[in-house]
Formats: sequence, structure tokens, C-alpha cells
Amino acid sequence: LEQARRPSVIWLSFQECTGCTESLTRSHSPSVENLILDLVSLDYHHTLQAAAGEAAEEARLQAMEANRGQYLVIVDGSIPGPDANPGYSTVAGHSNYDILMETVEHAAAVIAVGTCAAFGGLPQAKPNPTGAMSVMDLVHDKPVINVSGCPPIPMVITGVLAHYLTFGRLPELDAYRRPMAFYGQSIHDRCYRRPFYDKGLFAESFDDAGAKLGWCLYRLGCKGPTTYNACATMRWNSGTSWPVESGHPCLGCSEPGFWDDAGFYEPV
Ligand code: SF4
Ligand code: SF4
Ligand code: F3S
Repeated sequence: LEQARRPSVIWLSFQECTGCTESLTRSHSPSVENLILDLVSLDYHHTLQAAAGEAAEEARLQAMEANRGQYLVIVDGSIPGPDANPGYSTVAGHSNYDILMETVEHAAAVIAVGTCAAFGGLPQAKPNPTGAMSVMDLVHDKPVINVSGCPPIPMVITGVLAHYLTFGRLPELDAYRRPMAFYGQSIHDRCYRRPFYDKGLFAESFDDAGAKLGWCLYRLGCKGPTTYNACATMRWNSGTSWPVESGHPCLGCSEPGFWDDAGFYEPV
């Protein structure tokens, strides 16, 4: 039997740190192997592709032509905007902005993976020397899904992709275009330290008696009450733990304004 054609995915990496791809490779259900070998045709991805140089760029153009109107574009990293010096970030001699706009022109949808792509993230932090912008700042004529987090939870990246491939439509999104299934509740809503918050029992330093007893980390700057993500339920490292469980406050990494607005280690 002829194998059904797998949907073409073009993954573009711009001003990023590879953390989002690192996270993707740690998904266990579906695993990244399962994703690449069974579910999608990953036709372009700097870190994971075997091809390099002109052959890699040719693969991107061929995938766009062969799957016109049907391919999915995934972006990690922010983009120096149209008014920025195009030399701040280039691939194969082309600016990030030109590659993004060329690649999304005939895409079915765009998924911005990571807070850099979704909201600007680290490159957009003051003074934003490269004029970094998010995907949704620049792409206005295609559906854009934001899978925020610095990086996002591995299973959230693959889960959003699997949903789109299975149902062929966008999941329900919140006001920031994040899938409600993963970003519909705050960290604080589902945090196992919440009973201590409700009783007014707070750690005042990272090594005091309250910290050792597992009390709430709000006074150490936890942004759980204003951060929407699935860490408290899905956890990290195949469900092993998550920041608050390891004794660290949530820094709000999945919210717009991360880094400038988060105020690390300062109570809000
Ligand atoms: Fe790196 Fe975080 Fe940006 Fe992903 S969102 S590219 S992990 S800085
Ligand atoms: Fe809320 Fe953070 Fe305290 Fe958990 S540790 S209850 S998320 S403030
Ligand atoms: Fe990010 Fe907070 Fe989760 S910092 S990883 S959203 S616990």
C-alpha cells in the first residue's frame, strides 16, 4: 500500500537560543522520532535536518512549491522587524524578515513556538537593539498559534502540532492566541503549594524553615498567579518535576513581557 502523504512542516529558526528545539526533542508522547518519521514531513529545520547550505535552502523552496496552501510553518525566535538593520540576523544571506514573509505566503497556518517567537521574548528585552518583533506582529493574513514558554513544555509543542494534524483546524485559543487546552489555567490555579498560599504560609528566603517545609514561594517572586501554562499539571522531563516543585518560583516565562515585566525574584 502506498503510504499516505505526511503534511509538510517547515521550521524556521531566527533570533533564538535552540532551547525550544531542545525542548521539542524531549517530548515522549509523541516522541520527536514518532513525529518526524510517522506524522509529518519535516522538510526544513536547521538543527535537525541532514542537508546543509544550498541543498537545505532548496528543500525549503521545494516544500513550499509542492505543498502550496497546505504546509505548516513553525517559527522559533524573534525577528528583526522591517525597519531594523537586516544584517542583525540572516540565514543564507537573507534577512529573517524576508525569509519569514516569503515562507508564510502560501502556508496554511503558522505556529510560533517559544516566547521569543510568540511575544518577542529575550531578544525584545530593553533596549531591544535588533528591533525584535514577534511572529504575530508581522504575520496578519494567516492563522497564528502561539505556543509560549521559555521554552514551552515538550508535550505542549507536539500536542498542539498533533491536534492540528488530526483535526485540521486550530484549537480553541485564548486572548494571546495560545491553545486553551494548555494555557487555560494559571500556574497558581493548579499549584500543589496553593494550600500554603491560602493559609498565608510563605517562604521568606530560599533557605529558611518555610522553604524547607515547602511553603508558598510568592514572596520570593513567584509569578504563578499571573502566568498561564501547564507546568503544574504536565510537569517537565517526562513528568518528573517543574520549577515550583524544585523550590524555584515561577518566573512567568510564558507571558507577554517576559523578561522586562517579570521582575525576577521580586514579589508583585
Ligand atoms: Fe530560547 Fe526561550 Fe527564546 Fe525558546 S523562547 S528560543 S528557549 S530564549
Ligand atoms: Fe501560587 Fe506560586 Fe505559591 Fe504556587 S508557589 S501557590 S503558584 S504563588
Ligand atoms: Fe515558565 Fe513558570 Fe512554567 S517560569 S516553566 S511558566 S513554572
